[in-house]
Amino acid sequence: NRIEGSYSLVFLSEEQPDRLICAKKDNPLVIGLGKGENFIASDIPAIISKTRKTYILNDGEVAVVRADGVEVRNLQGERVDKKVFEVNWNAEAAEKGGYEHFMLKEIHEQPKAIRDTMSQRIAKDGKTIVMEELKWDKDFLDSVNKIAVVACGTAYHAGLVGKSYIEKLVRMPVEIDVASEFRYKDPIIDEKTLTIVVSQSGETSDTLAALKEAGRRGSRTLAITNVVGSSIAREADQVIYTWAGPEIAVASTKAYTTQLVAFFMLALYMAEIMGTQPAERITQLIDALRRLPDDVGRTFEDVDPLKTFARQYGFNEDAFFIGRSLDYNVAMEGSLKLKEISYIHAEAYAAGELKHGTIALVEDDTLIFALASQDFLFEKMLSNIEEVKTRGARVVGIAKKSQNAIQSKADEVIFIPDCADEITPLLTVVPLQLFAYYVAKRRGTNVDKPKNLAKSVTVE
Ligand code: G6P
Repeated sequence: NRIEGSYSLVFLSEEQPDRLICAKKDNPLVIGLGKGENFIASDIPAIISKTRKTYILNDGEVAVVRADGVEVRNLQGERVDKKVFEVNWNAEAAEKGGYEHFMLKEIHEQPKAIRDTMSQRIAKDGKTIVMEELKWDKDFLDSVNKIAVVACGTAYHAGLVGKSYIEKLVRMPVEIDVASEFRYKDPIIDEKTLTIVVSQSGETSDTLAALKEAGRRGSRTLAITNVVGSSIAREADQVIYTWAGPEIAVASTKAYTTQLVAFFMLALYMAEIMGTQPAERITQLIDALRRLPDDVGRTFEDVDPLKTFARQYGFNEDAFFIGRSLDYNVAMEGSLKLKEISYIHAEAYAAGELKHGTIALVEDDTLIFALASQDFLFEKMLSNIEEVKTRGARVVGIAKKSQNAIQSKADEVIFIPDCADEITPLLTVVPLQLFAYYVAKRRGTNVDKPKNLAKSVTVE
């Protein structure tokens, strides 16, 4: 009762070596229930090779764990009747499955992860989105006048795309902040706000604190997370789970794409309820979504050019990623991937903003990834490519197959399958993930556990 702050603690006493006592607040702690043995861990992947049966400890609960039994009490000392939570992933899913690194495995798992995330949420006739977990109606959405999206790292980048989806399809204003800023900015939110937090792990301390802050100010809260029973999932009013499966590599890949799918489906669902898009448009976009797992699979077919670029540019000191609109959002994620695992200085810039700063840094052989997947901005991007080429940059363009005019402008081009503009972030990000991966391999860095970074940041 006297401890302040966030913690997960395990105590062992010399006098009673047959028991461990554990408690938590704001940080995760799970208890694995074995046969004649029990486990305490910070999260489920640590114990799934031992047992699938777990107790997930809540704040203010204290557990006494012995080899032959677990007893949970609250801070008043009263017994708590815990429900056993059965984990449904298998141990093999948490192993590398033949890939050299978890990151590469997880990149390749994206078609499946995307399929799993969307499959239960499309009506049988393929025409509408079903969000059993939300059950929203027009009255509910009419009572919301603003959405606030809050997240960290890659999840924040997914939130940026989510903001565009909701604004474009639902025409509802969306603000977005990184969680560590949101917490301390005295956010303007109230009971008319819907706060959406995004977190792969569901345990990121800043995101959890932001979620609590939103709740304190009366906002309705929704979490998009990958981990069932995580602290964020339990704290939020409602949850949309991404079904990406366990993500082990520190650099997030399949969690990002499934978060985009969750946002896209949420925006379509809201658009249906609010009648902000014609029914045929919604059906077309659902069709596009259904083709997506195969389209993502197609981006793996020819990765040799990416390996070649990694050989050519793998020891560059800087790289820039430029794009407009959704492409700019993906550029930010591409730049983060490269930074995280290859330690190359990488920056993302809105292509139209280059002339206000970054272009000063472009010189002979500066590497620039130019994302040009948005049809309505394609010509503008070609001009931006020309702008940096004139200053000597080496440009790798990324565009839809049908936009082959890019070939006469960029030095190299990576094509993605033709698709609706809204879908491209899920396709353009894949070559950027792979490029970062091959560069990191070439530089011999620790791909799955890059220096100074952690998978789940449970401290402020
Ligand atoms: C850490 C990880 C990132 C991740 C971020 C947010 O920094 O290294 O890959 O995007 O946390 O994590 P979350 O679990 O909240 O999505």
